[in-house]
Amino acid sequence: MVKNGQLETLDKLNTPDLNIPETIVETPGALNKKQISPDVFPQIPPTPIPVLDPALRAWLEIDSAALLHNLQQLQGLLSPGCELMAVVKADAYGHGAWGIAATILAQGVESLAVATISEGVELRQAGIKAPILILGSIATPEAAQVILHHHLEPTLSSYSQAQLFSEIVTNTGTNTGINLEINQGTNSQQFCSRPTLPVHINVDTGMSRLGAPWLQARELVQQVQALPGLEIASIYSHLATADELDPTVRELQHDRFQQVIQSCQDLGLSPRVKFHLANSAGTLVDPELHYDRVRIGLALYGLPPAPHLRSKASLQPVMAVKARVTLVKSLTAGTGVSYGYSFIAPKDMAIAVVGIGYADGVPRLLSNQMQVIIRGQRVAQIGKVTMDQLMIDVSAIPDVQPGEIVTLIGADGKEKITAEDWAEAIDTISWEILCGFKSRLPRLTLA
Ligand SMILES: Cc1ncc(COP(=O)(O)O)c(C=O)c1O
Repeated sequence: MVKNGQLETLDKLNTPDLNIPETIVETPGALNKKQISPDVFPQIPPTPIPVLDPALRAWLEIDSAALLHNLQQLQGLLSPGCELMAVVKADAYGHGAWGIAATILAQGVESLAVATISEGVELRQAGIKAPILILGSIATPEAAQVILHHHLEPTLSSYSQAQLFSEIVTNTGTNTGINLEINQGTNSQQFCSRPTLPVHINVDTGMSRLGAPWLQARELVQQVQALPGLEIASIYSHLATADELDPTVRELQHDRFQQVIQSCQDLGLSPRVKFHLANSAGTLVDPELHYDRVRIGLALYGLPPAPHLRSKASLQPVMAVKARVTLVKSLTAGTGVSYGYSFIAPKDMAIAVVGIGYADGVPRLLSNQMQVIIRGQRVAQIGKVTMDQLMIDVSAIPDVQPGEIVTLIGADGKEKITAEDWAEAIDTISWEILCGFKSRLPRLTLA
């Protein structure tokens, strides 16, 4: 759908209340409103805009087809009866939470996870009605009220947190007519009134972050069962080292989780209570970790959590990062480039200025260490990456013109650069690279 450097026929979704910046969606394809339950797109009529503004200096392209391919691949791996919960925190790892959530819910994904209350509220305000688990910890009654009001589902690590929610549900939830509603587990997005709040008990089996100590899990489950107004929706834990080759910690956590499940067997838990442990790496590495649900983030966005897991599923990166050449100039040998002159032209050169910088999410640490693709050819980035611009060496490419598109992450012709490549170059992880792209970059969703 990208022709001559321009996206054809774009719709701009009018999201006045949402503060979801500059989300632009093509009319045809996976985000075609005709293919998606109207409830997922409530009261948001598409407002056509002509084409991608040729003046747009930098943007992210979100490939819906790749997203759906990854979803299919991952669902195909799951053990029978296991459900995929999509982790869409941090704006769906930079991909735009609302667009990602709407697309995958339309394909049968039934539940979402975010980190913070405001991430959940944004999705609710955008009309997403699927169950949303808040993975973060909730500390104040005010925060708990917001959770309740927006039909979000909290993580509980302690009895005091459980008491907080129980009190709020019993004192305000039912009496003041706050209508607790939960999704029925279908994409019909049908809500029904319920007098209880679904809660998720987190058990610390070795991550040492959130969760009740695993040896006290049974006790906490019993305590929550005894509290009015709460309904245990799931009991879960999080793996600390599933992406590492050494299985020792993963196996220890698995064993502890198994013991937690066994210890709860005589507590009369509803068969609806789901047990879950695996993230992307856990899902890919061992089907025994699947249980009733897997919580998948990175793999859904098309990146393997570790090189040795690459062969477990054929994943396609969902995000591409592109920017335009804004200026082309000639340098004579010996000329310094950008702040600090970390690059001095070794010969006469042609360089291009590209309209993207560290304020958009290109790590400054990549200065002089990254390549980009222009006209299907890799060229070197030179000098320090600046806040809004960076320079590239186009000496080998004839007559580069302002307005030409540069691919920073993504494919162009036979060349391809991934977020993994960036992560490796600066000794970080793909998750951080993806989450680093800022809201000032429009997200363009391609069918
Ligand atoms: C509790 C929890 N579950 C699942 C995930 C998803 O992890 P991944 O992106 O590796 O699939 C995360 C992400 O950090 C998480 O914090």
